[in-house]
Amino acid sequence: MPTYRIAPSILSADFARLGEEVRNVVTAGADIIHFDVMDNHYVPNLTIGPLVCEAIRPHVQVPIDVHLMVKPVDRIIPDFAKAGANIITFHPEASEHIDRSLQLIRDNGCKAGLVFNPATPLHYLDHVMDKIDIVLIMSVNPGFGGQSFIPEALKKIADVRRRIDESGRDIMLEVDGGIKIENIAEAARAGADTFVAGSAIFGKPDYKAVIDAMRTQLAQ
Ligand code: DX5
Ligand code: ZN
Repeated sequence: MPTYRIAPSILSADFARLGEEVRNVVTAGADIIHFDVMDNHYVPNLTIGPLVCEAIRPHVQVPIDVHLMVKPVDRIIPDFAKAGANIITFHPEASEHIDRSLQLIRDNGCKAGLVFNPATPLHYLDHVMDKIDIVLIMSVNPGFGGQSFIPEALKKIADVRRRIDESGRDIMLEVDGGIKIENIAEAARAGADTFVAGSAIFGKPDYKAVIDAMRTQLAQ
């Protein structure tokens, strides 16, 4: 069985108590903290930046996975690395020079990855498989938490799984959007190993109960 990771998205956390929220969700079993950065330009919403990443960093030991939904991309990368990010992903269509942005992330000591919207083609992976550590498949259109899973994402996950296996490299395959206890196993069967869940976890009072139920689904 692959190593499965649960990555709660703090987009649905209580921002007034963010330190406590990240501590609680890690105690509840989270493997990664997923950190959604939106700029009201590339996506129609505005969220949090490096200062907030720096503020939560001392509260948890697990990796912080920064999902950049911003354009331009490069300017903000060193700031997130300094703020304690471990993984940084961006949307290829938001970068003028994808190879350069990936290299910049790695030069700053972080794992690098590309994010694919539901309608973004996978050909952006063609020439950079040796430069990525993670692929993130969006199963909703980016910008908001609480949307419904788009089933077409399953085929895309399977396509990426094939590409990763062919590459022979150790690349994480993350899925983001509408993941719940009810559909996490389906995403795993398609080939995902890392599961972002925002509203499914932070929308419930007992984070551990949700994460445990997700792991039970993944174990079947
Ligand atoms: C959407 C974000 C997601 C979002 C997921 O643009 O990238 O990470 O927080 O939220 P849920 O799990 O509620 O769909
Ligand atoms: Zn995200």
